[in-house]
Amino acid sequence: MMDTPSRHSTELPSWQRLETHAEQLQGQPISSLFKEDPDRFDHFSARFEGILLDYSKNRLTKETRTLLVQLAEEAQLPAWRERMFRGEKINHTEERAVLHTALRAPETPALMVEQEDVMPAIHQVLEQMARFVDSVHQEEWLGCTGVPITDIVNIGIGGSDLGPRMVVDALRPWQKRGIRSHFVSNLDGRALETTLESLDATRTLFIVASKTFTTLETMTNAHSARNWFLQAIKKQGKGESSIRNHFVAVSSNPEACQSFGIAVENVFTFWDWVGGRLSLWSAIGLSIALAIGMDRFRELMAGAHAMDNHFRSAPLEENLPVLLALIGVWNHNFQGAESHAVIPYDASLELFPAYLQQLDMESNGKQVDREGEPIEYLTSPLLWGESGSNGQHSFFQFLHQSSIRVPIDFIGTLEPGHQLPDHHERLTANMLAQAEALMKGKSFQEALAEISAQPDETQTRLARYKTFPGNLPSNMLLLERLDPHTLGSLIALYEHKIFIQGVIWNLNSFDQMGVELGKALAKRIQQELEQGALDKQSPAHDSSTQSLINYFLQHKNRSQSQKN
Ligand code: F6P
Repeated sequence: MMDTPSRHSTELPSWQRLETHAEQLQGQPISSLFKEDPDRFDHFSARFEGILLDYSKNRLTKETRTLLVQLAEEAQLPAWRERMFRGEKINHTEERAVLHTALRAPETPALMVEQEDVMPAIHQVLEQMARFVDSVHQEEWLGCTGVPITDIVNIGIGGSDLGPRMVVDALRPWQKRGIRSHFVSNLDGRALETTLESLDATRTLFIVASKTFTTLETMTNAHSARNWFLQAIKKQGKGESSIRNHFVAVSSNPEACQSFGIAVENVFTFWDWVGGRLSLWSAIGLSIALAIGMDRFRELMAGAHAMDNHFRSAPLEENLPVLLALIGVWNHNFQGAESHAVIPYDASLELFPAYLQQLDMESNGKQVDREGEPIEYLTSPLLWGESGSNGQHSFFQFLHQSSIRVPIDFIGTLEPGHQLPDHHERLTANMLAQAEALMKGKSFQEALAEISAQPDETQTRLARYKTFPGNLPSNMLLLERLDPHTLGSLIALYEHKIFIQGVIWNLNSFDQMGVELGKALAKRIQQELEQGALDKQSPAHDSSTQSLINYFLQHKNRSQSQKN
């Protein structure tokens, strides 16, 4: 099916109606909406399985929701959704299908991509993973000296790191006994060095995880890890052939894995229709499966699949990813918010905001629409966050009293992931209180009354400092508990949210051309830094870059001559 040229989002009738509607709501305090409708929570919350979404603390009414749903319909969301699930090449700039949802679906029915059913291959790799994971856990897979594997090091970056790292961290209570997981992504040698320091090479398994198997950071770390390993096992009288027991690869470029020296049977493949930032469901999830076992990994996938079904079938106004996406569009495009914070009040989700940064900003941080026309409205917000209650003691001051309005997703759990109930109640109380405080604020009069019944000039001034503008929107996501199934659903919820926003903003959420320019320029500078001189054949750098290179080289030369 060809891409149907769509109208610019801002030309859609509902977009224009939303603009007028936003003007009418301007200045309306969110808390007044609660006074007008005592059942506001019931009218503006939705549930799916163990996830509750309360979106009542946003400045919106039933009319807003109706108009937003119309916007989704006019942007042809239902049609785009089906095109994605059916495997059409909706990533039009790279001519690729977008099928991370197929990775977590049952083997039947068939799903055809270029006249081939992709489901059997997906399930073959899952079986390969299961066999491998079981053999490591059952200590049948042994290191080169015959001892079991105790440490798994995933070497990857971006989507080949952030997703697995976040899931393994979140599901630490499910971690297999006797297995420690490590993740190395940064090109900074300290990251690898610090990890290797604590490892016994004969008990370590490296997973080189890279879709392309060309990424500078990953290949540099993988080569250094390989050198370290060979050096370490030399003392045991072992050589290159031991790589087979200690290095596996996950990639959609199996030839490159073999050129690196990884045995063909140790390569786990996936396909070009799996986007890097959506790849944790593919063999990129091997580090997850090794950490928590294949059964738990399948539970994670089942949770995501359940969310896929919900997204595909629930009415738009009750559909969690649709609601989350539309509220985001409302806050960013019609209420002027340029950033968005995700604050999990659950330490297990500490890495969730960092994971979402790639998922959201690499997908929708774009300036050109599907027709190649410039986009004149805000697309991906600047996404940031960290876990509560830590944030309360750093950036919450800014959230409450700065002039920048930041909509927030709070994420909490009903059941704690630990045995200290007092902590959980206090933590939850703080999360609920923050959302309430951000919305309600505190007026100057209230602040003044708190200070004194008969205020003088100093107290009047002090009251200004103690005033909170309030009216700040937030969503609350409450999970029954954080287990593999619910985490799978939560991740899929955000994946779909981002896809939906991409549809509304009429952009391709699945390429990432904005990462290329810096990479290309780095190649030349790397050469110059290594060779110790500027490349005179190529056009000159700007004077800042040129001077910084020279400054670096002068220092390098000085320290080299001191060493000699
Ligand atoms: O940041 C660019 C990017 O291509 C991401 O999209 C991807 O997740 C990451 O680099 C790593 O790529 P690879 O898995 O090919 O090493």
